Amino acid sequence: MDATDPHLPTPRPAWIAGRAEQSDQTLAVHHPYDGDEIAAVCVPSPEQVERAVAAAVSVVPRFRTTPAHVRAAALDHVSQQLRERCDEVAEMITAENGKPLKWAVVEVNRAVATFRIAAEEARRFSGDLQRLDTDPTAEGRLALVRRVPRGPVLGIAPFNFPLNLVAHKIAPALAVGAPIIVKPAPRTPLSALLLGELLAETDLPEGAFSVLPLGNEETMRLVEDARLPVVSFTGSGPVGWQLMDRAPRKQVVLELGGNGAAVVCADWPDLDFAAKRIAVFGNYLAGQSCIAVQRVLVDRAVADEFVPKLLDAVSALRTGNPHDPDVEVGPLVDEAAAERVESWVNEAVGAGGRLLAGGKRDGATVQPTVLSDVPHDQKVWAEEVFGPVLVVSVTDGLDDAFAQVNASQYGLQAGVFTRDVQVAFRARAELEVGGVVIGDVPSFRADQMPYGGVKGSGFGREGVRSAMNDLTEERVMVLTGLEL
Ligand code: SIN
Repeated sequence: MDATDPHLPTPRPAWIAGRAEQSDQTLAVHHPYDGDEIAAVCVPSPEQVERAVAAAVSVVPRFRTTPAHVRAAALDHVSQQLRERCDEVAEMITAENGKPLKWAVVEVNRAVATFRIAAEEARRFSGDLQRLDTDPTAEGRLALVRRVPRGPVLGIAPFNFPLNLVAHKIAPALAVGAPIIVKPAPRTPLSALLLGELLAETDLPEGAFSVLPLGNEETMRLVEDARLPVVSFTGSGPVGWQLMDRAPRKQVVLELGGNGAAVVCADWPDLDFAAKRIAVFGNYLAGQSCIAVQRVLVDRAVADEFVPKLLDAVSALRTGNPHDPDVEVGPLVDEAAAERVESWVNEAVGAGGRLLAGGKRDGATVQPTVLSDVPHDQKVWAEEVFGPVLVVSVTDGLDDAFAQVNASQYGLQAGVFTRDVQVAFRARAELEVGGVVIGDVPSFRADQMPYGGVKGSGFGREGVRSAMNDLTEERVMVLTGLEL
């Protein structure tokens, strides 16, 4: 799919209860690199939104009992189609989001895996047997513990992975038989609408999915709608917590931000590798990943050797047009985002931070930037920068490094470059995060692994199986009079 193809029907239809529908109101989608309009999408009317919700509610009993093979086949279909159409889908992601083409290809391949994993999980989501005759009062009794969907899900997705983070909303819901209404990010609705198109080719019942490119106000109405008992949100902290306040009785899953730390320990043998990984994953997607490296904690014993290697690795990263296969750092999602990052860097320098690389902005593109000696109350250290900025802090031993990692309002993932198994176990035990990556950056994520944070990074977990648990609740059936 060429997002700029003038022959494609435009505006792109929304998916209302599984059907493509036009509407009067439209939303323009712009290329972050040059601001060109690349497509328009239909914004559903209140009547269309109501139909999507009503259909999701009415399909609940039917979808819950839809056989696993039907749900798994639908998920496999999406996976296969994405695999076959990888190049065109990657071009579309780059056009709507601005991420370099090679990272868009990575995202498509991850979405292929997310849907495939969900199909596999749908086939084995069976429940557990629990013997109850462990006490005299329950002799001859056995519990069958199965998980049932809590109800229709409202999934709200961010702009930074417009395909795969939408996949992480849709795929687990369909795997457990829960209808899903997805609200993509207003800047990047095209990939989500493509998923609607692919799902419409399957045998899922009407109402099992809708894709609604809505504005914030209409979305908040859905958040408060009691008919949608589950809200799964990925995005910024302020919006996530606000949303939770508006829906205190719902099952709310929040995947929020982070200020990812990479710890380089004195024992790490390959500083070139650590420097390259930190440079790449501080700047991939122009830093717009919740697990991008932001804080670099390097032990004093290796700092003098490490920092020049980091600067070399950062200066080797090419910025430019994200469709150019050699470009590694593209624009931020829009110029306002780039201006904010630039102003945070300037504030840090004004507060005594040293600018070691970058710091300049051209339109929506911010040069890969490295700072050191930044006071820890500065936004580039304490907040989520969501831009291509690395802040180096020299540490004195492991206690100091771990204390610095934990002195954060966030706790998503951390990376620890060590070969010492004792240090690895200490990191897992002591770091206040949802995941610790040993020997690599915090940015590593496999789509089947539990993914989510603590503290200001939210709660609940993605990773297909973990999300399936969040979207369902246990229901017990006790069998009596059995010979066990
Ligand atoms: C995120 O930004 O939270 C998602 C990161 C990823 O899926 O790699």
